[in-house]
Amino acid sequence: MITINFKINGTGKELIVPGTATLLEILREHLYLTGTKEGCGKGECGACTVIFNGKSVNSCLVLAPQVDGCEIITIEGLEKDGELDQIQEAFIEAGAVQCGFCIPGFIMSAKALLMENPQPTREEIKKGISGNLCRCTGYKKIIDAIQLAAEKLRDK
Ligand code: FES
Ligand code: FES
Repeated sequence: MITINFKINGTGKELIVPGTATLLEILREHLYLTGTKEGCGKGECGACTVIFNGKSVNSCLVLAPQVDGCEIITIEGLEKDGELDQIQEAFIEAGAVQCGFCIPGFIMSAKALLMENPQPTREEIKKGISGNLCRCTGYKKIIDAIQLAAEKLRDK
């Protein structure tokens, strides 16, 4: 077991976890933040995407020792004072959600993209979500939603 200290959605945490635990397990099984989903468990689907020190990562590929001293944002950290993040609103408005399983991962990839590049082109959006798989939507409405979120950010 190892002790790790990190920041999750703005709050400092200390946990004792197995050294082989993944960040995905820490989020879901130790912190009960189940908005982050497990799809493949091996870095192929993006369902487990979170923001890790400002960049999107697959949390199933990050091990507990790497979490120590880091700052993590999950889908639960986007809402502020009961208000959804503009990306979440845009996904609803664009009708980009079907079963919803992949959506937290897409939203976290979109968040990381828009933090780095607030006005991406459609091609840049496609590249930004290239690590995320959706079995339902065909991607068009997800890309539309991220474009809409960028417009909302611009008009804010
Ligand atoms: S569960 Fe992590 S990439 Fe699929
Ligand atoms: S909405 Fe069902 S997998 Fe994407």
